[in-house]
Amino acid sequence: MKSEKEQQLIEQAYAEMKKYRDMVEKDYYRLHYHLMPPVGLMNDPNGLIHWNGVYHVFYQWMPFHTGHGAKFWGHYTSCDLVHWKQEKIALAPSEWFDKNGCYSGSAIDNDGVLTLFYTGNVKDEYGNRQTYQCMAMSKNGIDFEKKGVVVTLPDGYTAHFRDPKVWKKEKNWYMIVGAQSNSLDGRAVLFRSKNLFDWEYLGAIAGGNLNRLGDFGYMWECPDLFELGGQEVLLVCPQGLKAEGMKYHNVHQSGYFVGCLDYETAQFFHGAFTELDRGFEFYAPQTMLDEKGRRILIAWMGVPDQDEDKHPTVAHRWVHALTLPRELKLKDGKIYQKPVEELQMLRKDKIAYSGVTIANEEIMLEGINGDVIELYLENIHLLGDMEIAIRSEVRLIYNSGERVLTLERKSFANGLTEKRQCYLEYLHSLHMFLDTSSIEVFVNGGEEVFTARFFPHKNNQTISFAANGQLVFDIEKWSL
Ligand code: FRU
Repeated sequence: MKSEKEQQLIEQAYAEMKKYRDMVEKDYYRLHYHLMPPVGLMNDPNGLIHWNGVYHVFYQWMPFHTGHGAKFWGHYTSCDLVHWKQEKIALAPSEWFDKNGCYSGSAIDNDGVLTLFYTGNVKDEYGNRQTYQCMAMSKNGIDFEKKGVVVTLPDGYTAHFRDPKVWKKEKNWYMIVGAQSNSLDGRAVLFRSKNLFDWEYLGAIAGGNLNRLGDFGYMWECPDLFELGGQEVLLVCPQGLKAEGMKYHNVHQSGYFVGCLDYETAQFFHGAFTELDRGFEFYAPQTMLDEKGRRILIAWMGVPDQDEDKHPTVAHRWVHALTLPRELKLKDGKIYQKPVEELQMLRKDKIAYSGVTIANEEIMLEGINGDVIELYLENIHLLGDMEIAIRSEVRLIYNSGERVLTLERKSFANGLTEKRQCYLEYLHSLHMFLDTSSIEVFVNGGEEVFTARFFPHKNNQTISFAANGQLVFDIEKWSL
């Protein structure tokens, strides 16, 4: 049963949805096949789980305006990761232990009970932050009952301690939490439990000035730890890294360490940090293992404090979305991300060309255009530089001399051109998903990914291809 206070907040959120439904739906920039908030602000995906054949995606949600604040958990379900149903609101910030936000967390199956772990964010009367790791349960996967606090703040950390991700390994449950140490280093902290109520603190397994990593940001958010390809992968979002060459240009970062976790000693031996995405909007990814054995990642297509209030959709009372679900593979110590194959269900009206050849010119191809489409370029052979211009707002450029791939866009904050880049030895293929105001580019079968929002004019649906030198490729396009 939900408390009266929680029920009231939920009713207020439904009223807000109703009040702004028309305004939100009239926005051309609403996406067609990505998850978005019904109104207000969406941020992190939470509680990803494939449970009794149904995929559940919860998300951080502020229904009352397009900024951050006391978050709810919104809820979507799907049988195929493509078609989603909006479910009842799962959690609202109603209790003493979560009154300023039911912050990010995860979901597990505990003997047939769908169990959520989340951070109760609390501000005391002086504005000081408190943090509690909390639990909620549901037998039907839809109606959740809060069970209160299961973990309080251990010594050695500030109240920036949040985002529990829980999993089972043999007979024990483990929880990893994003943290800031008293020395102001970002950390990932591990706990262990037999019964999900009593948690033993095992210590920080990774962080700034630990494991031979130097300074690495003042806070780590949204950790996720899982096995992939026989190794352990730790995803984290470090805050406070300085830009370095082509790396770390967003306001906050998101990436991973590959290594080996000793569950007995709680030691994680890991390699270097790698960014998960090279684009502009990507943060707070979370993964789940599905019933087919796939490790699937979904992230927030946004970054905290990165011109969030400048998104044009704010005028229509909503902001942000989630990325497409991506299947992860580990190859030679690197994560590859591929859009899940179920997305092929959306394909309509295929148009294909093979052996397209461009020499020192710019061309358009009949039928290769649109605003809600999938594009797949393969067998790319390039002598020189190439460029693909999308809807006059985004350009994808590969310079084969410097071996650099660039995504350029017109900033929605100030109209200036801005770019993100990565080093790429060869360009073989580009798999792109466009959805009115988003682009996701999977490079060379997921070796690199660029995710971004962009806000082109509705009537401009052109795509052009240019080469300085010679470019040959095959292309397929589908409307979605
Ligand atoms: C990441 C984050 C989390 C927090 C949540 C609050 O974007 O700051 O650390 O739990 O968002 O909405």
